[in-house]
Amino acid sequence: MSTNLEIHSLGMKTGTTLKIKGKVDSDAARFNVNLGNNSNDLALHFNPRFDDSRDGYVIVCNSKSGGSWQSEQREKQLPFSQGSTVKFSIEFKDDKFVIKMPEGVEMEFPNRHNYNHIDYMAVNGGFKVTSFKLD
Ligand code: GAL
Repeated sequence: MSTNLEIHSLGMKTGTTLKIKGKVDSDAARFNVNLGNNSNDLALHFNPRFDDSRDGYVIVCNSKSGGSWQSEQREKQLPFSQGSTVKFSIEFKDDKFVIKMPEGVEMEFPNRHNYNHIDYMAVNGGFKVTSFKLD
C-alpha cells in the first residue's frame, strides 16, 4: 500500500484532536491512518475498507505492538464514498481515541499502550490528505 504522508515529529498529546481533510481515491480499495511511535508500534490503525469480502464496507481499527497486529475492532458502516472529499477527526484521550466522521458516525478505540504522546503518523493507500491540523 502506498504511503502518501509520513511524519515522525507530530507531537500529539492527550487532550488534542487531529483534524484531517482529504480526498478518497475514486478507485480506493482501502486507506489507513496510523498513529503511534513508529510503523511497528501503533496506538491506532484506522482503516476504512471498500473491499472487505467478509462484511462489505467496513472500518477496521487495530493497534500494533513490536510489529504484530493486536485484536481488531470493526464498525459495519462507512460514511465515506470513493471519489469524495471528506473530513474526520481523531481525538486523543488518556484512555481512548474517539474518531468522528460524517453522518454522525463515531468510533472509539482504546489507548491500549497507554501512550500520552504520539510522534508518528502515516497515511497510506487510497486517500490523499489535503490538510490536517492539531487542535
Ligand atoms: C490485516 C491487514 C492490515 C491491517 C490489519 C488490521 O488483515 O492486512 O493492513 O489492516 O489487518 O488488523
